Amino acid sequence: MHFGHTISMVSNPRPSPASAALKLLPLPCGFDGKACIIVAMNGYRHITASPIAGALGAEISGVDVSVRLDDDVVDEIRRALLDHLVIFFRGQTLTDASHKAFTRRFGKIFIHPNFNTGGGDPEIVRVVRAPGDERIVGEEWHSDTTMMPEPPMGAILYALEVPPYGGDTLFANQYLAYESLSDGMKAMLEGLRVVHSDIRVAGPAAGLNARRSIKVREDSNWRPTESLHPVVRTHPETCRKCLFVNHSYSCRCANMTERAGKPLLAFLMDHGHRPEFTCRFRWEPGSIAFWDNRCTKHLAIHDAGPFHRRMQRTQIAGDAVV
Ligand code: SIN
Repeated sequence: MHFGHTISMVSNPRPSPASAALKLLPLPCGFDGKACIIVAMNGYRHITASPIAGALGAEISGVDVSVRLDDDVVDEIRRALLDHLVIFFRGQTLTDASHKAFTRRFGKIFIHPNFNTGGGDPEIVRVVRAPGDERIVGEEWHSDTTMMPEPPMGAILYALEVPPYGGDTLFANQYLAYESLSDGMKAMLEGLRVVHSDIRVAGPAAGLNARRSIKVREDSNWRPTESLHPVVRTHPETCRKCLFVNHSYSCRCANMTERAGKPLLAFLMDHGHRPEFTCRFRWEPGSIAFWDNRCTKHLAIHDAGPFHRRMQRTQIAGDAVV
């Protein structure tokens, strides 16, 4: 085929200002005024990224994350994370040690302040769901642990045992959530900050331990952690703006009456998971989801019925939200 331009896909097949997805390149020299279409579905040398939805999410193949990877492979995985926001691996076999070693290639391990590991390894959260559990971890749309002044930049969730059906996880792209707001709304959100607190997900008042397998601190010494974050944050690596509010932690708009702030916050939180901003991941034993917690929200679907679901999660330390 001969056309006037070469078309090449650079890194991210999704249109995005960050990675200049689709570029029209000039004619290659010596080709006598003609060029052919070259569609390279991704610009990676060591891995392949196959998108699973229009908004975000890609399955990565060509890599065994249980071994010590070369720096340039890790760089590509990091780039894939920035391009696709959540990346998935299949058929992996991790021990606690290799799970943590892979996590450390992307930063310092974040230790969750609320999960009660019962004397186990504080660097790994066991996300367990048993038949009959009335509640599960992460069943509301949320970004992780945003009550912290520096919420984790990401998380790596590894599946050990999954139900034959049910128990999927949904993810939502918060760049799209922001970019799809009207100019008037964007202007109104400028400078607005929201209080994030863990009062609903831990501590005696939340009262979750009696209703689910995984336990959080409920002792009388527990105190809520609160932080004030901008409603719109700028991603420290891509420099793109995204919405940063979520149902589990965002409580109230600062400097606004409850009457005005509550409906605004409710609108923003619900807007963030419009179906066209989401992808859905079906787990298999050995699957991994690695999400960028700065620009995504996620939700674990509570529909595993009579089945067990056993996962383990590490988190990577992040920066102050600006
Ligand atoms: C979480 O919110 O980290 C858990 C997600 C899941 O279990 O699918």
